[in-house]
Amino acid sequence: MQQHTGTKLEEGPTQLRCIGCGALRQSAGRDFRCPDCGDLLEVIYPDWKSSKHGSALEPNILKNEWRQRRASHALADRSGVWRFRELLPNLGNLESVITLSEGNTSVYELPKCARIARMERLFAKHQGMNPTGSFKDTGMTVAATFARLEGFRWVACASTGILNEVVQRMPVCLLNSVNPYRLEGQKTAAIELLEQFNWEAPDHIIVPGGNLGNSSAIGKACMEMKELGLISRLPKISIIQAEGAMRENGGKKLSPMRADTMATAIRIGNPASWKKAVRVLEATGGTVEQVSEVEIALAKAEIGADGVGCEPASAVTLAGLKKLVKQGFIKRNESVVLILTGHMLKDPDFTIKFHRGDLFPDKKDDAAILKEQQRAPIVLDASVEAVLKALEQA
Ligand SMILES: Cc1ncc(COP(=O)(O)O)c(C=O)c1O
Ligand SMILES: [Zn+2]
Repeated sequence: MQQHTGTKLEEGPTQLRCIGCGALRQSAGRDFRCPDCGDLLEVIYPDWKSSKHGSALEPNILKNEWRQRRASHALADRSGVWRFRELLPNLGNLESVITLSEGNTSVYELPKCARIARMERLFAKHQGMNPTGSFKDTGMTVAATFARLEGFRWVACASTGILNEVVQRMPVCLLNSVNPYRLEGQKTAAIELLEQFNWEAPDHIIVPGGNLGNSSAIGKACMEMKELGLISRLPKISIIQAEGAMRENGGKKLSPMRADTMATAIRIGNPASWKKAVRVLEATGGTVEQVSEVEIALAKAEIGADGVGCEPASAVTLAGLKKLVKQGFIKRNESVVLILTGHMLKDPDFTIKFHRGDLFPDKKDDAAILKEQQRAPIVLDASVEAVLKALEQA
């Protein structure tokens, strides 16, 4: 095992701060909620401002260190999460992080999608290219390492129901996105993106909205990078949700809705991190838009036609971009990055139904909109002749 470079993990205690009442705490309860007001907690780094860190947090030193770590053979150094450990909580010895090599995901250019959205250029950072096909991995490596450090043998993650009572009654560590350590890990998508953009912030980052963990984490990372001088300006972070999934009232109140969308990953009518996300929208000047089922299906096929592919929730970003360009919120020559959150193979049924023309069996108008992108499967005999004949006819 190679030596790690710059083992900063042992430095700088972090604190937890309630996003509602602002109370500070050293540790969290099982539900990761403020015992005083019930709101969510966030990780803060009071030491960043102190002279103790000296030049360790100097932007050029950090950038160099992070670049050099990529050439290391040590797992934590090569990790697209732990490589950025100076901006993560102190979770002890680097040898004991729980990791499957998360992060290090590509940024792809989407030229066809750019033309469709009437943009000069368009990029996508594909968090679905993580080891389990989901953006969640970058958060899970941090949250799972935290759980181990705290002595938990059991962890659990579910989007709805049962779990709060379970974690109160049994020694189970909750890994949902209410867990602030998980969101710290998800921050690294933005840090890595900015590194890939040579620390020039894009004009816009567009994120799918479900529980609003990604938008919160990516926004927090951008604000922290700005504070540390790693970037000189903030990108506008905008959130796209499935039509009717949630109703938010001037950032002050959320009216829970019964969300109903085929993009099941964002079928969430009462998002846990909405206050954190509102703060990001306000700080970065981003906006919120919603898109219909047929708009999601079309955008997913268009991303696929650029050779990338994603599951439906990710595709709301392109569908939303088209609307934001039409509204004039995004200008044709601005730089835009879509955050794709899940691998295409997360929901193969959707893709198969799409190409068979079975997605909207009762809605003729919607089905007609998708026709041009459909590539219906052709069933052939398993013979060379059958393949050659089909190719000649094509
Ligand atoms: C693929 C995918 N995209 C997006 C989301 C929404 O996550 P959030 O809004 O919490 O970032 C989820 C939630 O699990 C998901 O699985
Ligand atoms: Zn509180």
